Amino acid sequence: MAKLIIAKNLTLAYEDKPIINKVNFTINTGDFVFITGKSGSGKTTLLKSFYGELKPIGGSLMVGGFALEAIKRKQLSHLRKHLGVVFQDFKLIPEWNILKNVMLPILIAGQDRKTSEHKAREMLRKVNLLGLEHKYPSQLSGGEQQRAAIARATIHQPILILADEPISGLDEYSAEIVMNLFEKANKAGITIVIASHSIPHNFSQKYRHFHINEGKIHELS
Ligand SMILES: Nc1ncnc2c1ncn2[C@@H]1O[C@H](COP(=O)(O)OP(=O)(O)O)[C@@H](O)[C@H]1O
Ligand SMILES: [Mg+2]
Repeated sequence: MAKLIIAKNLTLAYEDKPIINKVNFTINTGDFVFITGKSGSGKTTLLKSFYGELKPIGGSLMVGGFALEAIKRKQLSHLRKHLGVVFQDFKLIPEWNILKNVMLPILIAGQDRKTSEHKAREMLRKVNLLGLEHKYPSQLSGGEQQRAAIARATIHQPILILADEPISGLDEYSAEIVMNLFEKANKAGITIVIASHSIPHNFSQKYRHFHINEGKIHELS
């Protein structure tokens, strides 16, 4: 099993105050991992480090073969082309319709407009949003926006999807659709890491579970 993320004595901090303190773990290609922990424990911080938003202050963090403690800007943008993120602060762009939002990653990757549009429609069909492609994010429900965000995070077939609290605030119906989308992506070979205050009950036995407590990460089984 290929190793996709390797953390060795990883320490993450804001202004020298450690949030994640000398932790070790490995995530393999194809894994589906839940990261839990109480509010403020460091779930978002950890996901941000995987995306290269927050540099480790100690130890090492390898993601997709890149050492993030020493990565250059150019390498980071290269890595990010292979990542998909569903983060609170990477929301859909309000001035763009859903179709354009979903097209963005493949336009960035250099695909022409026509191909991008075709692929975006295909993706919107998969997340059951076809017919809403000309609406703006504010015209969609929370669950629909989250599905659009997942379509955008998946369209370029990333190696890894990072999702921060993707189902909190959604009703049970939307949460189930969203979780099914992650499962499908995972079956297609994409590694999934989800930060969530809790794990939906029907998922608890199936996947890996990291729990953050007082700066340490314990894998529960
Ligand atoms: N940009 C920041 N600057 C300083 N402290 C921060 C920053 N972001 C988060 N923190 C602090 O780091 C800790 C972990 O935050 P976070 O990773 O957002 O937790 P979680 O996602 O588990 O709720 C919290 O104590 C929070 O206040
Ligand atoms: Mg958080």
